[in-house]
Amino acid sequence: MFEAVAPGYDRMNRLLSFGLDQGWRRAALRDLKVKPNARILDLCCGTGDLGLALPRGPLRVGCDFTPAMLEIAARKARTGRVAFPVVAGDAMRLPFRPESFDRLIVGFGARNLSDLRAAFREMHRVLRPGGRVVILEFSQPTGRFARWGNRLWLRTGVPWLARLLAPGPDAYGYLRDSVLEFPEPEAIARTLASGGFERVSWRPLWFGTVAIHSGRAVTEGRPGSDRGIGAAPPGAPRRAPPSAASLPPTAAGRPRPPRPGARRAE
Ligand SMILES: C[S@@+](CC[C@H](N)C(=O)[O-])C[C@H]1O[C@@H](n2cnc3c(N)ncnc32)[C@H](O)[C@@H]1O
Repeated sequence: MFEAVAPGYDRMNRLLSFGLDQGWRRAALRDLKVKPNARILDLCCGTGDLGLALPRGPLRVGCDFTPAMLEIAARKARTGRVAFPVVAGDAMRLPFRPESFDRLIVGFGARNLSDLRAAFREMHRVLRPGGRVVILEFSQPTGRFARWGNRLWLRTGVPWLARLLAPGPDAYGYLRDSVLEFPEPEAIARTLASGGFERVSWRPLWFGTVAIHSGRAVTEGRPGSDRGIGAAPPGAPRRAPPSAASLPPTAAGRPRPPRPGARRAE
């Protein structure tokens, strides 16, 4: 699906978000608190809009499992004369050594991950102790009116625009389902905490249709407990055993019946 949407991905992003998406990315990059000599991973980098928007100076690397997305990211980096090496890899089995990065950011990628808990553990593994993670993702507003408006937009506006502008695979039906089925911000925060992150917090943007989570890879203590956000008993190993707490299945995490006209990934 991502292969198929890659060529029109940037344009659809701008259109479906009314041009707001780049502002959300800038907000997430501010929360990343980048230092000049940092090593930064843009995970699920897609066409590179996050990594390429970072200030010059730090080492930045993009990683994604869709070659067509990576090709576009590499082309944009060449055109902008930006050093942004991209690496093919799966978020659940990252091709990096432990503690390779000081900062890690995921933009609109988390809801696509079939095992968010495993992905968070991988993110923790490749971050140095004390390294910062930022997750920018669609969310659902808590206010009744905003929630209703957001659902209406996702269920009617998005598919209509997508049929008009991007006929072909039903990627934007998937967008709707994956946003509506993605866990609430509190659940994401708990999962981050159980994956080894402390000082986890989040902030809503644009009436809560988008949320930015951030946290810090624990420096000591045993991650994996669900005793609360940031809770980690001292003196235990840094890597967490899988937590018993469970997330509801996401659109990415369960098999879906094919939609009429939908192209299946080979
Ligand atoms: C909606 S795009 C987001 C791209 C970009 N970060 C942005 O801000 O626009 C989601 C990306 O996640 C990638 N992705 C999904 N699951 C992945 C996985 N398990 N491992 C690596 N990349 C994945 C897809 O290939 C796609 O490029």
